Amino acid sequence: MSSAVFVRNSRRAFSVIGGGRRGTDALSGVHPVARRSIIDLSYSAHFMDFKGSSIPSSMKKLVVTKLSPNFREAVSLQTVPVPTPGDGDLLVRNRFVGINASDINYSAGRYDPSVKPPFDAGFEGIGEVVGLGLSASSHYTIGDTVAYFGSGAFAEYTVVPTKESVPVPSVKPEFLTLLVSGATAYIALKRLGDLAKGETVLVTAAAGGTGQFAVQFAKQAGCHVVGTCSSNEKAGFLKTVGCDRPINYTSEDLGRTLRKEYPRGIDVVYESVGGSVFELAVNSLATKGRLIVIGFISGYQSASGIPSIKGGTLPVKLLQKSASVRGFFLPHFPSDYREALGSMMQMFAKGKLVCEVDCGELSQEGRFTGLESVFRAVDYMYAGKNLGKVVVEVAPPSVSNSKL
Ligand SMILES: NC(=O)c1ccc[n+]([C@@H]2O[C@H](COP(=O)([O-])OP(=O)(O)OC[C@H]3O[C@@H](n4cnc5c(N)ncnc54)[C@H](OP(=O)(O)O)[C@@H]3O)[C@@H](O)[C@H]2O)c1
Repeated sequence: MSSAVFVRNSRRAFSVIGGGRRGTDALSGVHPVARRSIIDLSYSAHFMDFKGSSIPSSMKKLVVTKLSPNFREAVSLQTVPVPTPGDGDLLVRNRFVGINASDINYSAGRYDPSVKPPFDAGFEGIGEVVGLGLSASSHYTIGDTVAYFGSGAFAEYTVVPTKESVPVPSVKPEFLTLLVSGATAYIALKRLGDLAKGETVLVTAAAGGTGQFAVQFAKQAGCHVVGTCSSNEKAGFLKTVGCDRPINYTSEDLGRTLRKEYPRGIDVVYESVGGSVFELAVNSLATKGRLIVIGFISGYQSASGIPSIKGGTLPVKLLQKSASVRGFFLPHFPSDYREALGSMMQMFAKGKLVCEVDCGELSQEGRFTGLESVFRAVDYMYAGKNLGKVVVEVAPPSVSNSKL
């Protein structure tokens, strides 16, 4: 028999985010429900969870089969056996998965040039535990709801090492927005922003997945927040989350507006677009200004992945203003991660953080449902259509899942 286990009505403490699961449940006011009975029917073949809703022997997942920033060219939908969790792993039935701008950097092999296809795609998911290894069962049990930041999320089922998992009170897509998008804004501004009350903060791609959080955290720090976006609808949304001056750059000239309305300059820039927007942001910095490089999405679809800039004068510009440009990459801040998630989940539970989710309801072909729609969701983001975090619903709620 494998190390996957039969678990009946067990409840064990798991201290990841400021307490055990009971504490986490209390955050959302969701009352823990009775544990489900699980029947292990020879795990190596398949096993069943509550009331006969069986785990199938095969599933769909998205696999990078060719390195390319063109997601449709790089990735294919495959049918494969449902994987078996190892001793310290969970088998998670994904309910929602998050789309990230970097999904196309990953499919282009830019994260690790030594990795050769085929490899699994997708960075983050949320769902319920439907199987687990023996060691993992000291932290979780079947039916628990978890989110995770780890590879291979674009699948109906994903094996998740316990250490990459985060217990969540329910399978709400809002929790998914915190894992990468929220955590990036929270940690980057906290560790690199040095925000002071009254300072002016510029957030680019402000109405997107991570931008929406940067706006809110900068506002919470007592700053005046300026945010760029490409539509009036996004500008309206930005106002509702505390952005003092949304700039729709399709109807207003960004550079001219910044020069006219902020002649003293911008103290902190949370910069995600790159290229000409990066240059403009550098030119707009105030004395002792800080620009945090979060990304450069305007270049990701190109062969190099890097938008061009005229960088030759950068040292002069920084010196003349005692300004700085700092890079931020979330995986480099593991020691900040748990605190960031715990804090954001509390804010969300208290209604102090908006986690805007965009499941594509207003897109031409409608809501992103099923793994097939990940392709559409990536296109939608790169067309600049999303308002909030782009999320795909992988599977509808199972009938027996009383936590939803
Ligand atoms: N450093 C890290 O650890 C880290 C972690 C997460 C995300 N990021 C970065 O954060 C940025 C945003 O990522 P996200 O996943 O949250 O995406 P997102 O902001 O939800 O979506 C991307 C937004 O960028 C704008 N955009 C799309 N294509 C563009 C293009 N070709 N040129 C200019 N703007 C474009 C659009 O907004 P408008 O049309 O309104 O401008 C779009 O809504 C990316 O640069 C990403 O790499 C970095």
